[in-house]
Amino acid sequence: MYATENEFPQQTGLHYLNHAAVAPWPQRAVEAVTRFAIENAHTGARDYANWLQLERRLRERLQRLLNAPSRSDIALVKNTSEALSFVAFGLDWREGDQIVISDEEFPSNRIVWEALGPLGVEVVQVNLHGANAEAALLAACGPRTRLMAISAVQYASGLRLDLQRLGAGCNARGVLLCVDAIQQLGAFSLDVQSCNCAFAMADGHKWMLGPEGLGVFYCREDLRSQLKLHEYGWHMLENAGDYSKPEWQPARSARRFECGSPNMLGATALEASLSLLEEVSLTTIEQQIEERMQWLIDGLKALPQVQFHSVLEPERRAGILTFSLDNWQHAALFEALKQKQVICAQRGGGIRFSPHFYTRQQSIDETLHILHTLSTK
Ligand SMILES: Cc1ncc(COP(=O)(O)O)c(C=O)c1O
Repeated sequence: MYATENEFPQQTGLHYLNHAAVAPWPQRAVEAVTRFAIENAHTGARDYANWLQLERRLRERLQRLLNAPSRSDIALVKNTSEALSFVAFGLDWREGDQIVISDEEFPSNRIVWEALGPLGVEVVQVNLHGANAEAALLAACGPRTRLMAISAVQYASGLRLDLQRLGAGCNARGVLLCVDAIQQLGAFSLDVQSCNCAFAMADGHKWMLGPEGLGVFYCREDLRSQLKLHEYGWHMLENAGDYSKPEWQPARSARRFECGSPNMLGATALEASLSLLEEVSLTTIEQQIEERMQWLIDGLKALPQVQFHSVLEPERRAGILTFSLDNWQHAALFEALKQKQVICAQRGGGIRFSPHFYTRQQSIDETLHILHTLSTK
């Protein structure tokens, strides 16, 4: 069983509230990578078969995390942006097609769609600030809408959308739902089947506690062959190990999106990190993030100058809390917090805190104390 102090031996006095940016690795990921490095030095790739087993375990963990029907639905990709590009440049667009997104998406989930402009594809941006963000998104879907591309959790405000409702609404309108899941996966459950997701993608370096540069791409089975491929190589072939065969075809599985040699180093780390998340269980992780968010909200509410930029209702929020203090420029506040070893981000016109399930209460208390002292300066 895991123990917080063993898995997260963070420097004393460091308050890490930045999981929505880049998360620290748990100790078991550090150890797995160390073992992998030593193995490489001593025996090279002699035991490559074991590495393939690890890669298979990783796919299975990601399959469970997304509740994908099969591990064949899981492609290991470079990052979220790459998977979004696979969808954007894989679908067969017609002039006049529309894509619905929100007006607060992270650039990765906006630029890729705007890049289809020369094909005559139009991007419709929806404001999510009203009481019913899902209704607004669905109302924007017209007869020419082919795809809704939305972040499960908005990176700046932390707004968590009801994906079940969006999935059902998209399905009823014949619209494909594409979910940028990077701010949700590893923190809150996501079920691609019950949400009718056509596509979902996320890199491992945030809530999944993995390294940067290895992500997951889920593509619904019936849509796989509809995505035109733009990357080719030995690894994406149905008969990947058969180098002498002149004929070839892309793998039937999602491996067709993985053109060449896999990122085994990243896979080693991410597999270890996900083993921890599975051991703790997503239900516990959700509860513990919720609890830590509430501590932060309650503590911040005690500061007279606080303005919240995030939604505060538990069913609407995830692990992201953005706020500002009236008497502080947020860039200056960010620097002052950094000086005090509070690691956070500047997003959405304020300071973004993002605790994970293991964040210690003491760390939150000390952060709130630091803020209290700063706010009275
Ligand atoms: C919602 C969202 N999508 C995508 C990304 C980054 O994507 P990638 O994995 O391509 O670096 C971020 C990073 O902050 C994000 O918040």
